Amino acid sequence: MKALVLSGGKGTRLRPFTYSMAKQLVPVANKPVLIHCLENIRDIGVREVGVVVGDHAEEIGSVVGDGSGLGLRITYIRQAEPLGLAHCVSVAADFLGDDDFVMYLGDNVFAEGIEASAATFAARRPDAQVTVVKVPDARQYGVAEVDRDGVVRALVEKPREPRSDLAVTGVYFFTPAIHEAVRSIRPSARGELEITDALQFLVERGRTVIAQEHTGFWKDTGSIDELLECNRVLLERLSGDIRGTVDGESTVRGTVVIEPGAVVTRSHLVGPLVIGAGSHVGDSRIGPGTALGRDCVVQDADIEESIVLEGAHVTGVPRLRGSIIGRWTDVRAAGRTEANHLIIGDHTRAWVAA
Ligand code: TTP
Repeated sequence: MKALVLSGGKGTRLRPFTYSMAKQLVPVANKPVLIHCLENIRDIGVREVGVVVGDHAEEIGSVVGDGSGLGLRITYIRQAEPLGLAHCVSVAADFLGDDDFVMYLGDNVFAEGIEASAATFAARRPDAQVTVVKVPDARQYGVAEVDRDGVVRALVEKPREPRSDLAVTGVYFFTPAIHEAVRSIRPSARGELEITDALQFLVERGRTVIAQEHTGFWKDTGSIDELLECNRVLLERLSGDIRGTVDGESTVRGTVVIEPGAVVTRSHLVGPLVIGAGSHVGDSRIGPGTALGRDCVVQDADIEESIVLEGAHVTGVPRLRGSIIGRWTDVRAAGRTEANHLIIGDHTRAWVAA
């Protein structure tokens, strides 16, 4: 069994971050989403992983390397243009050969891992398997219509009137039967080779496609709100670990992780939160759901439910909530008498206090 992790794509919904970084490298609970994916793959015993990469190939390679740090053997597969999830299978055909494989979208978070899906695939060995979750409103998802034994009768992309509440997530298990399906389908109206169409091709030819329901937390980190939610959920699952320095004038409540070399002075920390290696927090309050990356400086600020990326400085900001602060940025209060002063790029969103 091999794995194919999709780490190309455009990431338009995560602009402006995706202008300068791969969306799969945006950290949740201080670890790139892609690393969470690769750890889940390792935990089901797969070692041979193909990672599909696009424009951000170099940066992904420099973070993940050859995979040996994670106990994996990684092969990078270049996709010249993001032409769809099924297109990724076709560009990886040589790497995949005649092996079964798990396909994992590199921006998906499965907080409890994917072991149940892997076990079902091994036990029932269908031609293909999708992992589904029950959602209150399935209209924005690929939807699986399933019989009582979990056998998929139809797959419909973003139906106006869903006939089931089972949304298809970003983990699929395939036998080599998928290759013929991928070769047979045509691009959809949006110009992509859709994996839903390839699966539907298998269903229509009488192949067995089953749906395994995932009952734990699942989300893709495609948008800012989803990213913040994943961050909070993964922070809630951490155990406290203080390896940096907290002075006697600071207080710590809840689950708090302070990485080595971080220094906290005269501040109040209310977890779950993580403060990255080498960061400095002074005279501030850091609230639940916050992840500060490495080498950040937070002074005279109050931050909650936010992701602050590596090297960012936040100074004098009284209430920062639901925010994502990019790498090496400088956010500061201008003082009551001064006008707001913003130097922000394309597609940036800024909320200033009225
Ligand atoms: P999507 O979220 O469907 O696409 P996207 O990353 O281009 O995002 P947006 O809609 O914001 O523009 O992709 C799911 C995952 O699959 C993600 O990790 C990117 C990856 N992917 C590829 O590697 N190649 C592709 O051709 C596509 C469409 C996605």
